[in-house]
Amino acid sequence: MARLVVVSNRVSIPDPTGKGSAGGLAVALREAFQGQDGLWFGWSGKVSAHPSAEPRMIDKGHVRYALMDLTATDRREYYSGFANRALWPVMHYRIGLSEFSRADYAGYLRVNRTFAGALARLIRPDDLIWVHDYHLIPLAAELRALGLANRIGYFRHIPWPAPEVVGTLPGSQDLLRAITDYDLVGVQTARDADNLRRGILQEFDAAQRTADVIALDGRQARVKGFPIAIDMSGFEQAAPRPATHRLLKQTVASLGSRSLIIGVDRLDYSKGIPERMEAFERFLISNPDQRGRVTYLQIAPTSRSEVPEYAALSRTVSETLGRINGAHGEPGWVPIHYVTSAYPRSVLAGLYRIARVGLVTPMRDGMNLVAKEYVAAQDPEDPGVLVLSKFAGAAEQLGGALIVNPNDKFEVAEAINAALHMDQAERIARWQRMMDLLRRYDIAWWTNAFLKELAGQRKTSKARR
Ligand code: G6P
Repeated sequence: MARLVVVSNRVSIPDPTGKGSAGGLAVALREAFQGQDGLWFGWSGKVSAHPSAEPRMIDKGHVRYALMDLTATDRREYYSGFANRALWPVMHYRIGLSEFSRADYAGYLRVNRTFAGALARLIRPDDLIWVHDYHLIPLAAELRALGLANRIGYFRHIPWPAPEVVGTLPGSQDLLRAITDYDLVGVQTARDADNLRRGILQEFDAAQRTADVIALDGRQARVKGFPIAIDMSGFEQAAPRPATHRLLKQTVASLGSRSLIIGVDRLDYSKGIPERMEAFERFLISNPDQRGRVTYLQIAPTSRSEVPEYAALSRTVSETLGRINGAHGEPGWVPIHYVTSAYPRSVLAGLYRIARVGLVTPMRDGMNLVAKEYVAAQDPEDPGVLVLSKFAGAAEQLGGALIVNPNDKFEVAEAINAALHMDQAERIARWQRMMDLLRRYDIAWWTNAFLKELAGQRKTSKARR
């Protein structure tokens, strides 16, 4: 069996308890490494003045972790700069927030080249290489330039917008071309796949071989939707556990007979957190009988705070929260509870289970696994209701949710009200529909579908340059 080599900016090493990070990628890749030898290569998360050109190796079970340090300049230009300040906003349709700098772009290309050089020395001819996300788009092109002919796949966790949007980003033409150095390109939705194929066809003299396959300069890339999934059995087991964690106990105690509405997101402008708070305020104004009868808990772990747009968002959220709680709160009732710590997956599962409404209203999102986890954690006899943005990739699959446009706070407010008043039979019917899909397309399906397709591709022809 070919060895699996995973490459991602963040690498998740299992902790001493063997559980490791609970993030979506970590869970997904743990599944991919099941029962086979593997290598996981990426950034150590550390900055060093003189990083070694060779990765630090750590062996855990049958997986070998290869970790690269970055210089402070690398981190600033590659990670905070181009990846998160220029690329991320454009890919989430926020052209106006994108700050491009040539130095950052050069840093992004430089780190990809350095990673490719270090990785190439570890690669065996039959390895299957699986690269993840927007930090590493040019990696395959760099590996090919070093003569590697392995099958290389790419999975894109965030959206790929329409060509007119992507085209606003300087460097996007090079990135589009670099995408075609992968043999298989997985994206979250059919819409993303269509956008990406159209982008390549419009930009270059490329040919569409089949519905999924694009040929350019003698190479072929298959571009297809593989909606990422969750570990269903893990989630179904975690949710019914008794309330042992402090946050869970406190939440249950402070709720009393109130209904809980929950939102869980990284503190990111793509998630629509201030907009969601305003929609909740609109719900309170339109439904005065609900005052004091509901609590909205927003968990939003701080993220990328060195990027100015994220620091600005943090201020906006705090102001919006303070204003709404000040205007509508009463002694003994705070409408919105807000916490910025990250909680273990089992605690979140417990909170999802007691929440009557899961509020997942990003302005744009690749998939959004919180939506799936909220559904998976529900009590089958008495499930809560998911309110889901039409701009989350998950909306292509979760038709049992109340689908909303997050730009319309009245619409979101009405959906909150409908969710709180929905009768049990309808809640069960909607939930069941979504559960059937989540069970059928779980994380094992996702990793197997992608890797089977990648392994089945013809071995790659020679490098382009
Ligand atoms: C998104 C991206 C991931 C990223 C995560 C956390 O989910 O798709 O690639 O790792 O956000 O962001 P961070 O910048 O902390 O890695």
